[in-house]
Amino acid sequence: MEEKVKSSLFSAVQPSGAVTIGNYIGAIRNFVKLQDEYNCIYAVADLHAITVRQEPAVLRRNTLELMALFLACGIDPKKCVLFVQSHVPAHCELAWVLNTISYPGELSRMTQFKDKSAKHAENVNMGLMDYPVLMAADILLYQAALVPVGADQKQHLELTRDLAIRFNNRYGQTFTVPDGYILKDSGARIMSLADPSKKMSKSDDNPNAFVTMGDDRDSILRKFKRAVTDSDSEIRYDPENKPGVSNLLTIYHAFTGKSLADSEREFAGKGYGEFKEAVGEAVADALAPIQAEKARLLADKAYINSIISEGDNAAFRMARKTLSKVYRKIGFYSGE
Ligand code: TYM
Repeated sequence: MEEKVKSSLFSAVQPSGAVTIGNYIGAIRNFVKLQDEYNCIYAVADLHAITVRQEPAVLRRNTLELMALFLACGIDPKKCVLFVQSHVPAHCELAWVLNTISYPGELSRMTQFKDKSAKHAENVNMGLMDYPVLMAADILLYQAALVPVGADQKQHLELTRDLAIRFNNRYGQTFTVPDGYILKDSGARIMSLADPSKKMSKSDDNPNAFVTMGDDRDSILRKFKRAVTDSDSEIRYDPENKPGVSNLLTIYHAFTGKSLADSEREFAGKGYGEFKEAVGEAVADALAPIQAEKARLLADKAYINSIISEGDNAAFRMARKTLSKVYRKIGFYSGE
């Protein structure tokens, strides 16, 4: 029987500080789930990270740590291409070309640009505005059909689709128009533990608002104990009316694999104290083996470097192929 050709899938995470359980549930966990079904290409998006100010030594360390975390979470380098974005120059090169079909109006309308400009008012740079164009270049270079991301990236994905279609219309079929893989339940948007009306974010000023993949057991239990719930005492999944409890149920579901309905049943008639402790325990139990594996991997930097170098080479070849096609289509002279 003929083997079915797998479609490509691309996603990336920024090495801009601690990775939260929101990043894990909304994105990284799905990277692992999808690795058998697709040709997966995953990057550490360091070019994106410098759109806000980074300490060089910290950025360097975070890149290595994020690669170790990818591996520790179960991304298999035999099945996937794992690489560092800045090591493959085609990302910047295609971004430049895509810039010539992107408009300031559409970029300045992006919610993330507006949020980050407000948060980093002292450093509203062109890179911050151009961020989604670089993201489109990341995705389109690999002809990705699917892009697993959290709900906050939906708008950037729409722009990627628009740019792909715009380019294809102008120059002929060149890019695959990608679809997002965004979780249907609220896992696509894990909320802050301190304020369930806000997204969980590593850049939150309140450290109790987020749980990182590296938090120790005591911190995890403490943060869940303090998590904001709501005034009544019913443990029910209802994101509209009970955002705090629903967020905790989503986290519990993600880390235990139990369905939301089963989780509701498990906690029926129980108090919030007991519930929050159980969620904290489930998260701590699930993170412990990932943390141990990450520490083991980090002790062998040569191994991680070898994975990166293999991934860089594979990504380089794939990206070059698309970029050459683009350069040909737009009329860059190649001697022929
Ligand atoms: P980043 O590094 O901010 O986040 C990585 C992934 O985590 C998801 N995420 C969440 N999911 C659920 N709940 C949350 N509270 C939560 N917070 C973050 C994000 O949606 C993302 O999927 N621009 C991207 C990185 C990137 C990229 C790409 C992604 C660069 N190039 C190409 C896809 C394709 C970003 O900043 O992710």
